[in-house]
Amino acid sequence: SSAASKSRKPLPPHVPHSVPLLGNAVPYGVQPVSYLRQCMDKFGDCFTFTMMGRKMTFCLDPDGNHFVFNVKLANATAEGAYDKLTVPVFGTEVVYDVPNSVLMEQKKFVKDALTTSAFKAYVPIIVDEARALFAAWPDSNESLELFPEMAELTIRTASHCLMGKEIRDQLHSNVAKLYHDLDAGFKPINVFFRWLPLPSYFARDRAHKIMTQTFLDILANRRTAAASIAAAVAADPSISAPPPPQDVLQSLMDAVYRDGSKMSDEAVAHMMIALLMAGQHTSSTSTSWIIFELARDPATVAALLREQAEVLTGDPNTPPHLLPELTYDALRKFTLLDRVMKESLRLHSPIHTVMRLVIQDLEYKGYTIPAGHFLCASPSVSQYDPAKFPNPEKFDPSRWETPTAGEDGIVGEWNINGVDIAQKAARSSYLPFGAGRHRCIGEFFAHKQIGAIISMFVREFEFEMKRDSKTGERPKAEPDFTSLIVMPVKGSSIEYRRREALRKA
Ligand code: HEM
Repeated sequence: SSAASKSRKPLPPHVPHSVPLLGNAVPYGVQPVSYLRQCMDKFGDCFTFTMMGRKMTFCLDPDGNHFVFNVKLANATAEGAYDKLTVPVFGTEVVYDVPNSVLMEQKKFVKDALTTSAFKAYVPIIVDEARALFAAWPDSNESLELFPEMAELTIRTASHCLMGKEIRDQLHSNVAKLYHDLDAGFKPINVFFRWLPLPSYFARDRAHKIMTQTFLDILANRRTAAASIAAAVAADPSISAPPPPQDVLQSLMDAVYRDGSKMSDEAVAHMMIALLMAGQHTSSTSTSWIIFELARDPATVAALLREQAEVLTGDPNTPPHLLPELTYDALRKFTLLDRVMKESLRLHSPIHTVMRLVIQDLEYKGYTIPAGHFLCASPSVSQYDPAKFPNPEKFDPSRWETPTAGEDGIVGEWNINGVDIAQKAARSSYLPFGAGRHRCIGEFFAHKQIGAIISMFVREFEFEMKRDSKTGERPKAEPDFTSLIVMPVKGSSIEYRRREALRKA
């Protein structure tokens, strides 16, 4: 260690504190992207600040993204940074409660379940759920707060597709409330403190127990059903057994680790909770942001409708109410829709900062980043880089017509297997789904889910941002960075009218 300490480089520049105890928590917490950009202008693209007594070292720009996302396990870990936050919510034996090699296998189990044939089955489910939700709305509304509606739709679609029909059927009783209680314990402060004497944590822990039990009961029911089918087939081989459910829950029940062992029932239940938490806000906020962007861009809405009409009927002028059912195969051909989603994720990445805990000193750009620091990347910062994305504040799907230097891979084309994920290059400005071994496995599902919802939404409604009663203007939605996932501020609303031919009355 003496050789290492002799060659120790200087620490990254430290951003001065504003409030001694909180460190830089307040400006970072309220406006992280512009705060980080200001720090970057002053201190360069690698710097440290203190938050809640912890040193957070940011590596911004594409090199920084690459450095953080592909850091070696021996140097820095995600579980070190995230376990306080996630283990009480997800539970034991999964994700950040297990060694990284186990997480890699668990991610592969999930990824393997999300096959093309599964997606073909999911798209009609998502379409039906969207149609049912929209049908329950009045024909017009001057002020609809969008995010809670999209959150409701997402929990219905994601639970139906991923968790299984049993969970979807229980949504109206207890699952939605349990989800809410779990979520209340999923706060940025928990990155720093595992447990604070707050009432919401009692609710969180209680919800975790009941949710786990709910999944355990479903597992037991599925086993009983499978056993009685097997017995019936054994007694009478002419009976044809119904296929097992095609969802992630079933795949995890059947999955086998490389060492031949299986996930315990608790681990399966906990993994389902983890997926629910990982997918819910990220997808529902992304859907909301796309609609908010489209609410200010009627030309793109019209072009999206022409694209659907062209792909589904061969005639771009087919009116929305005469369009045939949306399918997985059609969705794959909506290139403008892809660009819209991509551009909205550039501007509104749900996860603005990712973190690792340094466990062995690192060297980066002439600095030593010592053990104990949180090592952070913020793709949201590079996604606003004017050098890569001219006029970066502007929502402009056409910037994706030519693949940009900032781009890394195409949505959905990433392929998981132990080696590929670890070696995927991350020297990119555009990484809303992360990179490297912790890269998102829900991207393709999210992409299909969000794409189907947006396609159904533009068919059904004409919409704008809500008019401000005082100014008469229609202001854009603003981001709220104070929760873990970047959401629109409370109250962000649209005005809509159902298209003439689709009205109920
Ligand atoms: C990881 C973003 C939807 C499951 C990640 C990461 C990001 C991300 C940035 C990397 C985190 C890190 O490196 O620390 C998103 C976005 C989504 C989305 C923008 C939607 C628009 C989903 C969905 C699921 C999901 C729907 C579940 C079906 C996961 C899982 C990981 C992950 C399991 C791996 C965590 C790890 O390996 O440490 N996601 N996600 N995500 N996401 Fe997503």
